[in-house]
Amino acid sequence: MDLYEHQARDVFDAHGVPVPRGAVADTAADAADRARELGTAVVVKAQVKTGGRGKAGGVKLARTPEEARATADAILGMDIKGHTVHRVLVTEASDIAEEYYLSFLLDRANRTFLAMCSAEGGVEIEQLAVERPEALVKIPINPLTGVDAATAAQIAAALPAQVTERAAKVIATLWDAFVAEDATLVEVNPLVRTGRDEIVALDGKVTLDDNAAFRHPGHADLVDERTEDPLEAKAKAKDLNYVKLDGEVGIIGNGAGLVMSTLDVVAYAGEKHGGVKPANFLDIGGGASAEVMAAGLDVILGDPGVKSVFVNVFGGITACDAVATGIVEALKILGEAATKPLVVRLDGNNVVEGRRILDEANHPLVTQVGTMDDAADKAAELAAAGA
Ligand SMILES: Nc1ncnc2c1ncn2[C@@H]1O[C@H](COP(=O)(O)OP(=O)(O)OP(=O)(O)O)[C@@H](O)[C@H]1O
Ligand SMILES: [Mg+2]
Repeated sequence: MDLYEHQARDVFDAHGVPVPRGAVADTAADAADRARELGTAVVVKAQVKTGGRGKAGGVKLARTPEEARATADAILGMDIKGHTVHRVLVTEASDIAEEYYLSFLLDRANRTFLAMCSAEGGVEIEQLAVERPEALVKIPINPLTGVDAATAAQIAAALPAQVTERAAKVIATLWDAFVAEDATLVEVNPLVRTGRDEIVALDGKVTLDDNAAFRHPGHADLVDERTEDPLEAKAKAKDLNYVKLDGEVGIIGNGAGLVMSTLDVVAYAGEKHGGVKPANFLDIGGGASAEVMAAGLDVILGDPGVKSVFVNVFGGITACDAVATGIVEALKILGEAATKPLVVRLDGNNVVEGRRILDEANHPLVTQVGTMDDAADKAAELAAAGA
């Protein structure tokens, strides 16, 4: 789960990383009140889960509460890269002397953690990473030893000499926050040196590891239902393992590995049919009961992008006949709500009986195909025809 800047700010604050004073506001009048309470010039900042807010006009200085009101009025409702601004963060304006960059992330390719640090932070960091990668220092972090004082000093060495000592302390604290919260990303851009030589985290991006949610009951409160994908929310409520993607072929399978391979074969088959792609990942797990199948189909058919559905099941402990019955019952439960063609490929335990059950039901939306590749091809063809 990605956090909003104001949530990241609170996490930093709780762990002792220096942040500017600030508070959120949902209306322009609230923003003016927050500015009045702070009693300084403020920066009004769009709260959206995407970068480049500054460049898009979503980060603005306001010298007075009245200016904060007008600025918030302009920023609230703004669309930034497809994200609507519902809330702003009003923070005290910092007197910035220099802007640096600092992040910790999970480096999957190298199976470790990585620290990145640059003396040239700010809104041009992406460009810097491409044009002068040597200006962005990368230091792998051993997960067993973490960031001790020596490692923090090594990271801080990327920064100007006058701040390395103080920055190293902030870097070590930020690592503690990264570990304590089970984050997979903590990024501070900019980390600034103020005119009074303080080191302050002016902007924060934090991604929390959802797999560690059980260790952090408090993290559930950070979910913003307003912007959560409604289909993913529905799937979560039904305990389904669902991830929405942007394609046209809905996918249901049993077992994460099988579903992953199904995404691959559908993407491959889609090339021949105008480039249609998988519309989701959905693993219904071991027990493909009628209820689970109906819940899965219900979520997938609720996606307006879906033009066909590929049900790919390898019967194991739950045999193919049970799955076939599940599909037939699910279609009964859904009734009129089932509108898109279904391609079903059954194999494995009790496959003959499973196929017979589907043949006998003879549902107008269901096509059975014997192999995974042929079924992917058929599903892609139907999606292309329906698109
Ligand atoms: N509290 C503040 N006081 C003064 N200037 C600020 C403050 N917050 C942000 N800024 C200025 O605005 C710029 C952009 O702000 P910020 O980094 O928070 O948003 P952003 O553009 O979304 O960044 P990113 O692209 O990293 O997501 C900063 O680089 C900084 O120069
Ligand atoms: Mg930033």
